Amino acid sequence: MGTLFKNGTVVTASDMVQADILVEGEIITLIGKDLSGDGHDVVDCSGKYIMPGGIDVHTHLDLPFGGTISNDDFDVGHMAAAFGGTTMHIDFVIQPIGGTLRDGLETWRKKSEGIAQIDYGFHMAVTDLNDDVMAEIPTMVDEGITSLKLFMAYKNVFQIDDDTLFNTMRVAAENGMIVMVHAENGDVEASLTPALLAEGKTDPVWHASSRPPEIEGEATNRAVVMSGLTGCPLYVVHMTCESAIDALRRGRALGYPVMGETCVQYFFLTVEDHLGAPGFEGAKYVCSPPIRTTHDQGILWQAVKDGTLQIVSTDHCDFWYDGGHGPWQEWAEKTGGTDWVGYEKQDPSYRRPGKELGKDDFSKIPNGMPGLEDRMMVMWDAGVNSGKISPSRFVELNCTNPAKIFGMYPRKGTIAVGADADILVWDPEVEHTISAETHHMRVDYNVYEGMTVKGKPVQVYQRGNKLVDGDEWLGNNGDGKFIARKPNAQVL
Ligand code: URP
Ligand code: ZN
Ligand code: ZN
Repeated sequence: MGTLFKNGTVVTASDMVQADILVEGEIITLIGKDLSGDGHDVVDCSGKYIMPGGIDVHTHLDLPFGGTISNDDFDVGHMAAAFGGTTMHIDFVIQPIGGTLRDGLETWRKKSEGIAQIDYGFHMAVTDLNDDVMAEIPTMVDEGITSLKLFMAYKNVFQIDDDTLFNTMRVAAENGMIVMVHAENGDVEASLTPALLAEGKTDPVWHASSRPPEIEGEATNRAVVMSGLTGCPLYVVHMTCESAIDALRRGRALGYPVMGETCVQYFFLTVEDHLGAPGFEGAKYVCSPPIRTTHDQGILWQAVKDGTLQIVSTDHCDFWYDGGHGPWQEWAEKTGGTDWVGYEKQDPSYRRPGKELGKDDFSKIPNGMPGLEDRMMVMWDAGVNSGKISPSRFVELNCTNPAKIFGMYPRKGTIAVGADADILVWDPEVEHTISAETHHMRVDYNVYEGMTVKGKPVQVYQRGNKLVDGDEWLGNNGDGKFIARKPNAQVL
């Protein structure tokens, strides 16, 4: 007995067709017209779209960063993702300074194994390159990790130098891997920040001045040039502005294997209205690179439409706005460390530190914001309902290109016979008002608070198992699988 999705409109990156879909076990076994429901569970999809589960290739769950740990983990974060139609994500393992890649991998396995509720993969962030680590890079392919991430910013935390970037690209190219960069000139930022603070410019809005678009454009160009020299596929994460898009476009015109993403928040938030909000409110919107201007938003929409950008992700990395509740010293003594997550579970009125860490100094505000649950609904409403992109381009940006670029296609990212049955039943008519009161992410604000979107997933399936049915959660810890990815993936 299988599950038959009947009478829906199937949306893939290339087509929109009326068809029925049969799922047996974990995979799609048949697609056709007027399939018989005899002996199967029938899901009536009249008036609905049937789409592949979303894939968010840029998340930071349970990440120690900025003096705290990002809130959502592989438990609650997964549930929130699925309520928004995302059935798989790729998170960033961080190599500990002085440690190996494998040390980082072990840490991220502990965060996820037996806990995960949706499928997931890992990118490997190289933070400390030496000859031993260089030799370790190819072994990551055997672990199903085929993408390396390098931070050109966050000096004295994650930042690498040009030597490291260039040599990592060489090794990656030899092994069929892709290199991802956070492209901002961290040295310039590290000079600008203290100068601003010395002038008394401590409010959240000054975060944008410490990381101007020029330093994103410069770093993007540097990485693009290195990709051209090494032949290593490059994927620039969270692109925000005209100078960076121009650099990517130039590289693509030269035939370099360079690609990029933006994140959904960069289409909506601005320095003026959000980062510059009264009081400390702007801290909610502190992320790096910073949110920009309406002019840059137009550039990003154009880049998404003309194919300069291939993916829209979230960079989900959420922190309490009103955090830091509870006697931390006592708890640290009790647990012999800083088990803030355990602390919160013991009593939900306790909260680990969050954005308030930077009350008097914008550079101490933990960088990042929530979005994992919102991405697809917001992109559908602002992209498809507005006529900027077609439903197929929506699927391409949120599902198919992520699978193609990161080595999971056609198992993931499409509706096809033999693919994993990661399926969204999407109701284009239903209206939903986004709010922190009702979202499933473990965070006390939503950057789209009050936005009413039309269109949402009403049922969500992962490998044939129903995870979401309306407002009901049906997933289980341990049901999410690590997805080993293949090298030599597509350059789009
Ligand atoms: O502000 C951000 N983006 N936080 C997460 C870490 C990163 O740079 O992606
Ligand atoms: Zn980044
Ligand atoms: Zn990130």
